[in-house]
Amino acid sequence: IYYVSEEKPLKGKKVLITCGATKEFIDPVRFISNYSSGEMGFSLARIFRWKGAEVKVIAGTTTAKEPPEVEIIRVQTTEEMREKVLEHYDWADIVVMNAAVADFKPSKVSKEKIKKRDKILLELVKNPDILEELGRKKGYKILVGFALESDNLLEYAREKLERKNLDLIVANPVKVMGKKEHEGYLITKDQIVELPKGSKLENARFIVEFIIGNVLRGGE
Ligand code: CTP
Ligand code: CA
Repeated sequence: IYYVSEEKPLKGKKVLITCGATKEFIDPVRFISNYSSGEMGFSLARIFRWKGAEVKVIAGTTTAKEPPEVEIIRVQTTEEMREKVLEHYDWADIVVMNAAVADFKPSKVSKEKIKKRDKILLELVKNPDILEELGRKKGYKILVGFALESDNLLEYAREKLERKNLDLIVANPVKVMGKKEHEGYLITKDQIVELPKGSKLENARFIVEFIIGNVLRGGE
């Protein structure tokens, strides 16, 4: 273990994390999805647990190693993820939406496998925005979102912080995808903090400590 937390500042707190990619089926064997290893979400789960919190993770497709002492609930589609998140929402004090959610799904799913001789035209319809829905019913929860952008990183992330009524958004440039070295910014209503360049686990620790020191305290 690379880091052992002596104190348990989050003892008694309940944290719900989503991670990985949701997928949307075209037919029984084909789907569209997003890029996500789940590494950041699972790293966050590890650190929250080390800090004493009870942790549940709602995970889509992932390739990263699952964290110990954490309940993992598997889902496939965005709609399934939405249902599980809403089911566990009341339980949580802190909700972290790290999943790469498929924004669109095929307007219909073929029951039979489509043969490759057939030409297909995919019509995509919009999926619900889970985090925006949580932002509308917020209550006393701490809501944390992520934004992955290819351009205008700070501007787009800030817009999502406001539109989704979040306490914190973690903004990452798309170039961190699949990379060992992570980077980005933490943005709240009145702060922008640059993440130290480092591994996803180190960044996860920085993010959790920022939440403990700035978001939880600031919100009380
Ligand atoms: N999110 C969500 N439900 C969706 C899409 C995104 O809950 N249908 C969450 C993500 O988990 C993330 C945050 O919203 O925490 C921002 O996701 P992102 O894809 O960056 O933003 P979108 O609002 O989907 O906008 P766009 O993809 O057009 O940039
Ligand atoms: Ca999106």
